[in-house]
Amino acid sequence: MSQQFDVVVIGAGPGGYIAAIRAAQLGFSTACIDEFKNKEGNASLGGTCLNVGCIPSKALLESSENWERIEHKFAAHGITVEGAKFDVAKMLERKNGIVSKLTQGIGFLFKKNKVTSLHGHGRILGRNGDRWQLEVADGDKTDVVEATHVIIATGSTPRAFPGVPFDNELVLDNEGALAIPAVPKKLGVIGAGVIGLEMGSVWKRLGADVTVLEAAPGFLLAADEAVAKEAHKIFTKDLGLKINTSVKIAKVEPGKKGVKVEYADSEGKDHSITFDKLIVAIGRVPNTWNLAAEGVGLPVDERGFIAVDGECRTSLPNVWAIGDVVRGPMLAHKASEEGVAVAERIAGQHPHIDFNTVPWVIYTSPEMAWVGKTEQQLKAEGVDYRKGQFPFSPNGRALGLGEVAGFCKMLADAKTDRILGVHIIGPFASELIAEAVVAMEFNASSEDIARIVHAHPSLSESLHEAALGVDKRGLHS
Ligand code: FAD
Ligand code: NAI
Repeated sequence: MSQQFDVVVIGAGPGGYIAAIRAAQLGFSTACIDEFKNKEGNASLGGTCLNVGCIPSKALLESSENWERIEHKFAAHGITVEGAKFDVAKMLERKNGIVSKLTQGIGFLFKKNKVTSLHGHGRILGRNGDRWQLEVADGDKTDVVEATHVIIATGSTPRAFPGVPFDNELVLDNEGALAIPAVPKKLGVIGAGVIGLEMGSVWKRLGADVTVLEAAPGFLLAADEAVAKEAHKIFTKDLGLKINTSVKIAKVEPGKKGVKVEYADSEGKDHSITFDKLIVAIGRVPNTWNLAAEGVGLPVDERGFIAVDGECRTSLPNVWAIGDVVRGPMLAHKASEEGVAVAERIAGQHPHIDFNTVPWVIYTSPEMAWVGKTEQQLKAEGVDYRKGQFPFSPNGRALGLGEVAGFCKMLADAKTDRILGVHIIGPFASELIAEAVVAMEFNASSEDIARIVHAHPSLSESLHEAALGVDKRGLHS
């Protein structure tokens, strides 16, 4: 007889593994099926995020920033480093070590919480009475398990440039971009989105000549305009990324000498550049391949995402879907919170996720982080708002750190003073944004933040000043 579970989760990324742990905590017998194998061919839990996404990218960002500090920042502290060198192999080894530590940690958490971990490709076969039957296929071995509830958390994969498959030698996806064995002389990046900017920064800092080709008519259109403008200035002038927007790529041709890219620029002028390597980061597509047998009727929307309601229910009984494979931002923390909420809904609880307060962070240097509405969104919606903005340049802690670029900006409703959005570009923006997220979650006003005691000297004082600035009573501006 096949093994029976209350809950079977397909996918062990930050959506799936968290859903499985929470379901087990709530007393359900739970299994989690995952097919990911690392380069060594070993099963590795944690999905895109831990294996080839969030975690390894941040490890390499930090290594390359350390190099940049030695090259360009230590001198101002009176520190001279002679004969400094870096070793890409060692950087990659460090990154791989962090990945192993965290992915193995999930195996440990599964054991601790009594989650059964099944390796292989999961596929919903159909109903057996009031249970779902699922196949777990691993090479020649196929098992069938049964579940009352199924949570699909299969994530996403990189979108290839039409007609140009990834080979991870010349044309790189995120996995390849995180494992380039030696710094390429000329690196091309298609897509000035989150991956393009993070990975472009890493390799630029390590010495590559990086050209970014972006189809959209502007830079970082999803970010607040002031943040995007500041970031563009820093990335092009200080870091030296060559960022071209409004380009139309005509051809991508891998060959013996590299990858030739032909494109028309914003004025329609044709260009041809041959890169040593090309990162293609033009978005990601949901993983729904071979996920359900024909006849199951797994609902998929017009963009290929599994169709769910606001509570992650599909139209099939007791089948839920979360994370990158459903609508909404493709972010690890969004996937995890959906995972927790679904497990709790299965247990009859009524959890709530506020999608308006999901923070975004881009881990470039300086970092960018935001929550809520941008100024251009508020204008487009005709909302009457007030704003406060304060730079890091006069902030004592930022000066001590030697990281003075950027600012904090707060947008609040003109009548109620309720905070509508917070946008930060600057040092540790990823950490500073947490205060704004909590404030917005509790419907705080700018006055609330203005009246809270902020430690001195700290970067958070710039957020405090931005809050004071909403009411035009900044003390240092
Ligand atoms: P995934 O993490 O993709 O996990 C899905 C898992 O399911 C995978 O292991 C996959 O192999 C497995 N799977 C798929 N189909 C099946 C099947 N049929 N049977 C069995 N297993 C299956 N987000 C952030 O919030 N912060 C960041 O800093 C960040 N950095 C990123 C950097 C990069 C380079 C990339 C590519 C992404 C980054 N992201 C980041 C996005 C983040 O990785 C995703 O939003 C997150 O991983 C989504 O989680 P998930 O659980 O939905 O899916
Ligand atoms: P993205 O959606 O962030 O950016 C893709 C970019 O490619 C866009 O600017 C788009 O206009 C451009 N583009 C699309 N087609 C193009 C074409 N033919 N030619 C030129 N440009 C083209 O997607 P990306 O960078 O691939 O990342 C995928 C997702 O992964 C992100 O949206 C994000 O959700 C997640 N992620 C999150 C990170 C974080 O939270 N720090 C880090 C990395 C990824």
